[in-house]
Amino acid sequence: MGAGRGAESSRLWANRAAVPAAKANPSTKIAIARGPAAHHRPIAGFLKNSFMQSTLPGQPHFHYLDKQLYAEGCALGTLAQEYGTPLFVYSKASMLSALAAYQRGFAGRDAQICYAMKANSTLAVLQVFAQAGCGFDIVSAGELARVQAAGGDMCKVIFSGVGKTRDEMRQALSAGIGCFNVESEAEMDVLNAVALEMHIRAPISIRVNPNVDPKTHPYISTGLKGNKFGIAHERTLAVYQHAATLAGLKIVGIDCHIGSQITEETPYLDATDRMLDLVQAIEACGIPIEHIDFGGGLGINYQGDAPPQADDLWAKLLAKLDARGYGQRKLMIEPGRSLVGNAGVCVTEVLYLKPGELKNFCIVDAAMNDLPRPAMYQAFHAIVPLDATPSAHAAMVCDVVGPVCESGDWIGRDRALQVGAGDLLAVMSAGAYCMSMASNYNSRGRAAEVLVEGNRATVVRAREGINSLFAHEALVA
Ligand code: LLP
Repeated sequence: MGAGRGAESSRLWANRAAVPAAKANPSTKIAIARGPAAHHRPIAGFLKNSFMQSTLPGQPHFHYLDKQLYAEGCALGTLAQEYGTPLFVYSKASMLSALAAYQRGFAGRDAQICYAMKANSTLAVLQVFAQAGCGFDIVSAGELARVQAAGGDMCKVIFSGVGKTRDEMRQALSAGIGCFNVESEAEMDVLNAVALEMHIRAPISIRVNPNVDPKTHPYISTGLKGNKFGIAHERTLAVYQHAATLAGLKIVGIDCHIGSQITEETPYLDATDRMLDLVQAIEACGIPIEHIDFGGGLGINYQGDAPPQADDLWAKLLAKLDARGYGQRKLMIEPGRSLVGNAGVCVTEVLYLKPGELKNFCIVDAAMNDLPRPAMYQAFHAIVPLDATPSAHAAMVCDVVGPVCESGDWIGRDRALQVGAGDLLAVMSAGAYCMSMASNYNSRGRAAEVLVEGNRATVVRAREGINSLFAHEALVA
């Protein structure tokens, strides 16, 4: 991080007429960097996307105190000064409170929460969930090794994914994982063969593709007929009957996962009905199903989104299960984003302002390699200043972009900001699918990560140094 703090401070530009509360008390309501009046660029087109006001994503664990943005008891500005930028900062309390909503929802039930670690597989994050009693949903041998390193319980590991290799199957069987979520008939035959070679039986569930529209971004919809995931609903019964004849397999469950960032409850209710119909049909053929796994997918607030709360959603799903007589069955879920998404931010420094005729740019030191979601899914992340005191800088509407050499390298579009070089911004809701999808594109080392607990901050991943970027490469002799 460069110098430049102090006298220069950034301020979130707010439409004061529309959102007086944002200025008066930024800790409760904040205008998320969109609004009229830009000195560099007319605003007519800008207003059509207008998103005027929202609760700061990540509250109350991320909050303003004396106009400085904090993660729990740690000022983000102080962490940035100490550890540099870009810097991911996570709140442990936020993760545990997101988990608690699921635990409340399942109180009194036989339920296992398997954190879908693809959302954020940093060891210290896994450790938080392992210590809280969670299992894990994994999709590779690399993720298996991470769970082992973080002290996770292998019996509570489930292995999803359409392309498990024989080697990965062997490793997972040797580790004694709880269940393979089988995604195709071909995979099932290979798993059977691998287990027979090892003289053991592989515990399986079949991932059903229920053909339910989760009403989310097409790249993160997984339970529709045209998606590569799971076994078609109509084929499922026949596949269970085949599985029951294979000596290397032990049928333990059934599962589905219909997509991610789901903000409505109807797709879950529909998928539940379809799953229970199948359980009934499979058991009628004499094949017992011990557990029912409903996958993950519950959305979070990025931009005024209001997904159902985990406990409310589960009250409805459990009522359905009870009504159909399955309420006492072992239940499993695989939440990822909803446990960590709003528990993390990425702190970045403004490098340059670049006004232009058609667009203004605010160039920051984080980029699409750190925060790939906007480039990949046109995703919105709120961008707010660390210092919310009035700024001497002019307000401007700009695209917040990184240093990577691609026009797709943007983090926020048409944001109203009042910042100058050296100011610090927080990209909110960056706990899920940011660091875990980060790359070294443009030979950029990956950011450092800090986990906060109250006023204690621990660096849980050091900034990636240049040497490690080419540690595995060789010049030709
Ligand atoms: N279970 C399975 C089998 C999955 O494929 C996924 C996510 C989950 C559970 C967890 O879903 P969650 O609760 O996190 O929604 N990179 C995208 C999201 C990809 C999700 C892939 N599967 C993004 O940044 O939006």
